[in-house]
Amino acid sequence: MSAIKPHGGTLVNRIAVGAERDALLKEAASLAAIPVNAWTVSDMDLIGVGAFSPLTGFLNEEDYVSVIESMRLKNGQIWSIPITLAVTEEQASALSVGKRAALVGESDGVAYGIIDVESIYQPDKRREAVQVFKTEDMEHPGVRKLLERPNVYIGGLIQVVNRPVPEKFNEYYFTPAETRQIFTDKQWRTVVGFQTRNPVHRAHEYIQKSAMEIVDGLFLNPLVGETKSDDVPANVRMKSYVALLENYYPKDRVFLGVFPAAMRYAGPREAVFHALVRKNYGCTHFIVGRDHAGVGDYYGTYEAQELLRTFSAEELGIMPLFFEHSFFCTKCGNMASSKTCPHGKEDHLTLSGTKVRAMLRDGICPPPEFSRPEVAKILIEGMSEAVEA
Ligand code: ADX
Repeated sequence: MSAIKPHGGTLVNRIAVGAERDALLKEAASLAAIPVNAWTVSDMDLIGVGAFSPLTGFLNEEDYVSVIESMRLKNGQIWSIPITLAVTEEQASALSVGKRAALVGESDGVAYGIIDVESIYQPDKRREAVQVFKTEDMEHPGVRKLLERPNVYIGGLIQVVNRPVPEKFNEYYFTPAETRQIFTDKQWRTVVGFQTRNPVHRAHEYIQKSAMEIVDGLFLNPLVGETKSDDVPANVRMKSYVALLENYYPKDRVFLGVFPAAMRYAGPREAVFHALVRKNYGCTHFIVGRDHAGVGDYYGTYEAQELLRTFSAEELGIMPLFFEHSFFCTKCGNMASSKTCPHGKEDHLTLSGTKVRAMLRDGICPPPEFSRPEVAKILIEGMSEAVEA
């Protein structure tokens, strides 16, 4: 198995199988049911497979307060994003501490798991917003989601009895136990994880390949859970990653697998969370570039890097690799950053996300110095399919 220790020391496994699962399924049918949406199902599954190790369930009140206030679980381990289960007051009134409840898909009626109710509490969501997102602004997509959720949180250990079935790209879903085994089989002693919610453009490629020069392998680990509506949909992005790897990356040095989590847009705090989760998947290094997991102007360009620097390497257990804002420099004739290029802004090719989206919508390929043509073509097709649908 991979040499790097999961966060907390043990890879959590809360997926019930065999006779235990059969018994839990039977029990679930007799329990009070908590309806859960796709986001919560994804959190449950990621807890279940150990991607969120050391979490074994949804945060109880003590851990929640500790995470919000100090970015640590009650036991002192670093944890920056609260993973919580929200229910309405009416739903909460059917639950009691010490009892179990079934977690049932609100749209499909599938029993996904069982929770041992350990804590029923009223979170201070405004405080959560300010601490996690650094703003209470409803325009922030993470804050909006948070404030729109029901007002009671339920904490406790979970067991997963049914795993969500991916609609597409099934072959790119792996548990942390599987990726750890794969990295070991590939004899990669050092693996750099790359989080993305976007197509891989030249700047992403540049920082990935810079990292690849010093490690054994790249784990391209795009987030494919819920994202905001103007982000490129995951199925289009997946096609673009496959085309990019096919044409521009050595096959034996890259591994593509998805991260089926929802995007929080919590910037610095999410960068810490992303790093810890990639450690659980078996990465030894993790890339953090400009405005990691940011949105709008809520976070400083290097705020995520600054936060990560406040933790010791030993405590994080994964080595963050920091990259400056990267671009193509027409004078240098290559990709660069302010660390490697002496030229001014006027020589740098920079395109805003809005501008790129407008070009793609009009069927125009951005310049190859910005995006590989194979990627641009897939994004243009994806845009026109979305318009037709
Ligand atoms: S994120 O929300 O998943 O962070 P994105 O997919 O754009 O967004 O970024 C993936 C990673 O690449 C992040 O670590 C981000 O900081 C980094 N990154 C994105 N664009 C650049 C760039 N032009 N220069 C340097 N790093 C970048």
